[in-house]
Amino acid sequence: MGEVIGILASGRGSNFEAILDHIKLGVLRDVKMGILITNKPDAGALKIAKRYGVETAVIEPQQKGEPGRIEFEKEAIEHFKRKGVTLIILAGFMRIVSPYLIRRYRLKMMNIHPSLLPAFPGLRGPNQALEYGAKVAGCTVHYVDEGMDTGPIIQQGAVPLKEGDREHDIAQRILLLREHRLLSKAIQLHADRRLKITGRRVKINYGGGWERKWNARQRKFIRYQKRTHRVRRTFWDD
Ligand code: GRF
Repeated sequence: MGEVIGILASGRGSNFEAILDHIKLGVLRDVKMGILITNKPDAGALKIAKRYGVETAVIEPQQKGEPGRIEFEKEAIEHFKRKGVTLIILAGFMRIVSPYLIRRYRLKMMNIHPSLLPAFPGLRGPNQALEYGAKVAGCTVHYVDEGMDTGPIIQQGAVPLKEGDREHDIAQRILLLREHRLLSKAIQLHADRRLKITGRRVKINYGGGWERKWNARQRKFIRYQKRTHRVRRTFWDD
């Protein structure tokens, strides 16, 4: 069977690319990329899609506010249905998703957020952690519900905040060391039917050495990350 992914993104698209690399390297299994949909004609994610040969759609609603949102989502759903999308990933999608879409893809839509929720929802999570004086920051992968960054949590990962860190340092540490790795792990857990949701709680079945096998496979992606990102070598030790 397997999952077919539909991505909603508005910007750079590095999380989208990380998923594509996990697929390319054979780390993510039984998962196919269906389509990238964006609301921004200049989104960096579009260039990535082109490079990887992924179908794209740019949807710019004519109307503003709520009617525009529904217009966008109706069209997106048509694309998702046509491509047989079974799992939607919000990867830097800068619009609020309305109940119209959420109802249709309940527990079939994930978001990635750059903070350890419930701390620092909304915009600029890494900066909020810095200004608050937190000692750790991180990211959260969660199913999408009607609230803002409130859905059931699937994966979280922390990184330290260090003396002298600027927003960019923290954001990059969270992105490369946690987001790009945990989002694909959450997708594979979902695809493997390892997640059981009761209310807000996501119970994960790691039986049969699931996590050990995943970590062994994902080493390939991590080696690839180290080869392709130009950061100082010690960055990867965090
Ligand atoms: C990421 O930090 C993600 O957590 C947030 O938006 C950012 C998107 O980055 N939701 P990218 O477009 O995936 O590079």
